Amino acid sequence: MSDEVERYKYEAAMAAVEAVRPGMVVGLGHGSTAIHALREIARRLKHGELHGVQGLPCSDHVAWQAHALGIPLTTFERTAAADLTIDGADELTEFCDAIKGGGGALLTEKIVHQNSRRIILVADHTKLSARLGGRCALPVEVAIFGWQAQRRFMEALGAEAVLRTEDSGEPFVTEQGHYILDCRFESMGDIAALSKKLDGRAGVMEHGLFLGLAHEARVAGPEGVRTLSRG
Ligand code: A5P
Repeated sequence: MSDEVERYKYEAAMAAVEAVRPGMVVGLGHGSTAIHALREIARRLKHGELHGVQGLPCSDHVAWQAHALGIPLTTFERTAAADLTIDGADELTEFCDAIKGGGGALLTEKIVHQNSRRIILVADHTKLSARLGGRCALPVEVAIFGWQAQRRFMEALGAEAVLRTEDSGEPFVTEQGHYILDCRFESMGDIAALSKKLDGRAGVMEHGLFLGLAHEARVAGPEGVRTLSRG
């Protein structure tokens, strides 16, 4: 990762944190861009620039990071929805549709997104894409039982589906106890139709198409930080 891209990630996250207000429940995204937002929220809380904020983490991993940074946390047991969620993306369009799941937390991220009043995606400019799937594979989280059937299903949809593994060669297991198939398409065709097909498939626990969920994005690049909105 170049220092430049890392700086853009930081700038995008900083711009998004400007939307955090005292007393908010903030959905805390997972990944190397969202962590900058986490650190800035923690800094502002520590210096009294923000108060009363509670984090609703998008994964156990983020809960641990936020706890270590001193951000008070809440859960769905106590909170119905996040006022604002700040989260990264692997690829996104000008209209804030996105592919997520590179970090393996897509299921829990989607739960938080679907229960957020406002979502701001944060990314460096290299993640912008005219057409989703052009830049990265689509992560599909599948039940371990019969996972090979899901691989065949994805292949029948035109994807090259690869089981995600750890460096050791063992399958990567999500926090929720599932496998991930990284599915590369030459073209996803009708993305909304693909999303529906995956939504209806037993054994597909979640997929990385986040369509019509995010309201806005902050995308940083050589020209500064752009604000995108769903419109
Ligand atoms: C985690 O599962 C993902 O959805 C991340 O939000 C996404 O992969 C972006 O991560 P980075 O900010 O690390 O690129």
